[in-house]
Amino acid sequence: ERAQLLNAIIENAIDGIITIDDKGVIEHINPAALQLFGYSREETVGKNVAMLMPQPDRARHDSYISNYNHTGQKKIIGIGREVTGQRKDGSTFPFRLGVSEVKFSDRKIFTGFVHDLSREKEDEQKIKSYT
Ligand code: HEM
Repeated sequence: ERAQLLNAIIENAIDGIITIDDKGVIEHINPAALQLFGYSREETVGKNVAMLMPQPDRARHDSYISNYNHTGQKKIIGIGREVTGQRKDGSTFPFRLGVSEVKFSDRKIFTGFVHDLSREKEDEQKIKSYT
């Protein structure tokens, strides 16, 4: 049925898909995202999404979300941005972040799409070093 199909699509997606509530708490995270950040599902669900990023964003991310919730001003939603993620082992990597807002009748969530850019960035560096 449809819910199962959608679940299979998310579970098998190549890009990371993470959903958070309106406070930034992780509700769902797919295998691609877990692989990218080096965590297990149990280590992430119920925790703040800020655990997946380095400072200074880590300390500020709650205010990014609450600013949006109060003003409606979109800085990433519907636009996207290249940001830096932090893995469990502390290493960082660049990725393209897309965020969309999903409104239900009683609450809203945010969906984050994580497209790893490590390879592209490395290639860029190699090209630069030739010149
Ligand atoms: C806003 C960083 C992951 C949801 C922002 C902003 C930054 C940021 C810089 C905008 C601040 C501003 O210019 O005012 C990051 C970094 C991430 C990350 C470094 C690395 C893990 C996520 C994920 C989600 C998410 C996975 C959703 C599941 C949001 C929301 C906003 C926001 C809802 C406010 C709306 C907006 O600015 O359009 N984040 N974010 N973020 N982020 Fe994240």
